[in-house]
Amino acid sequence: MDRIAIRGGRPLMGSIPIGGAKNAALPLMVASLLTAETLVLRNIPHLADISTLAELLSVHGVRLVLNGHGGEENFDGGGGVAGRVMELSTPVITDTTAPYDLVRKMRASVLVLGPLVARMGQARVSLPGGCAIGARPVDLHIKGLEQMGAVIDLVDGYIVANAPHGLKGAEIRFPFVSVGATENLMMAASLAHGTTMIENAAREPEISDLAKCLLAMGAKIDGIGTGRLVIEGQPRLHGAVHDVLPDRIEAGTYAMAAAITNGDLELTGARAEDLGAVISVLGEAGVSIEPTNRGLRVRRANGHLNAVDVSTAPYPGFPTDLQAQMMSLMSVAEGASRLTETIFENRFMHVPELLRMGADIRLGGGAALVRGVDHLKGAPVMATDLRASSSLVLAGLVAQGETLVNRVYHLDRGYERLEEKLSACGADVRRIKNAA
Ligand code: UD1
Repeated sequence: MDRIAIRGGRPLMGSIPIGGAKNAALPLMVASLLTAETLVLRNIPHLADISTLAELLSVHGVRLVLNGHGGEENFDGGGGVAGRVMELSTPVITDTTAPYDLVRKMRASVLVLGPLVARMGQARVSLPGGCAIGARPVDLHIKGLEQMGAVIDLVDGYIVANAPHGLKGAEIRFPFVSVGATENLMMAASLAHGTTMIENAAREPEISDLAKCLLAMGAKIDGIGTGRLVIEGQPRLHGAVHDVLPDRIEAGTYAMAAAITNGDLELTGARAEDLGAVISVLGEAGVSIEPTNRGLRVRRANGHLNAVDVSTAPYPGFPTDLQAQMMSLMSVAEGASRLTETIFENRFMHVPELLRMGADIRLGGGAALVRGVDHLKGAPVMATDLRASSSLVLAGLVAQGETLVNRVYHLDRGYERLEEKLSACGADVRRIKNAA
């Protein structure tokens, strides 16, 4: 298994290209199941999760072609990134079973459920795995499809769904916001008979990106970007070309990397409009984020980092996917901050690792009380999920001595060429291949 070794203490200077958003690219790839024609997705990031989903889609009969390399070399200089281009064509769905071996690797695989039932009238999808950050059930996905007329049974760890006469429009009201359930049902509703209303829908930029792609494929969707989506089902959808939006979580992570190292970074391709809550929290912490003609420039406003209280919330709130990184930043800020996690009950697994690096953090009642320390110390640490891993990298960038981050495969699921991007800006970071 690979490890990442970091010697901390160097300010990051220069520019980092922000890739296409993983959490947009995954549902967009799944949307190709909704049409027999070709869907072309540009700016696809080069990540392990993308390869896992590509493997699953090919089981269903999707033919995938990938062109281009992505990254700096495809940077067009105008703030856009050409990235890699993926062409997905599914003239025929050859298999409606999503097997355990593939689905367990990544929770987003459950997104194939709605599109398969909508197009084929049936699906058999393993219950998902994914990051170990809480129970993460899929009851909202299932209940929504039942409301749309599917008959669903759980058999031997599989969700078995049948709708022999197709899905029908329904009025669905989520008791709480779910990104995945909104995406699954929005895709299913695009091919259902009649109109579907989704109340309390998630409003994440990745949902709007998916909705825009579905529009380009011939879907009829109103209320994009709001908590109430109205989808008028169509008999069929067609091919389209769509650009994946930039990854706001990658951008937020590198913004915090600039802040924690007292560096000065330009995040090329990053969009301020997707990062509202992050920019305002970081602003309170003393981090300046200004638009440039290529993206965003990030540095400390006056050399200091102040403690701020943060609570995660569905978009437009502060993203849970940046909570761990924020905790690393607050570990070296002046004062005490309270970080409250409201989305995933178990998302504090980075805390014991940060403690091993000398952080002062106390957990209780779904919140972490972080008292800033003068400095962190390098240590061997274990990444337990994707964003926890990146928080340990951030801590390592500022810690005295060497930090060894184990289980780097988590990072590879969601950060493209992380160590290259950081080294190019002056960090002392290297990957140790196949460490014992
Ligand atoms: C997506 C993101 C993930 C992010 C999360 C919250 C992708 C591929 N992943 O995950 O990075 O952290 O949104 O912003 O886009 N829940 C249920 N029943 C359900 C569905 C969800 O109880 O049927 C719960 C979950 O356990 C969790 C909360 O609802 O506590 C939010 O989950 P959800 O928004 O669905 O997250 P994901 O789509 O899995």
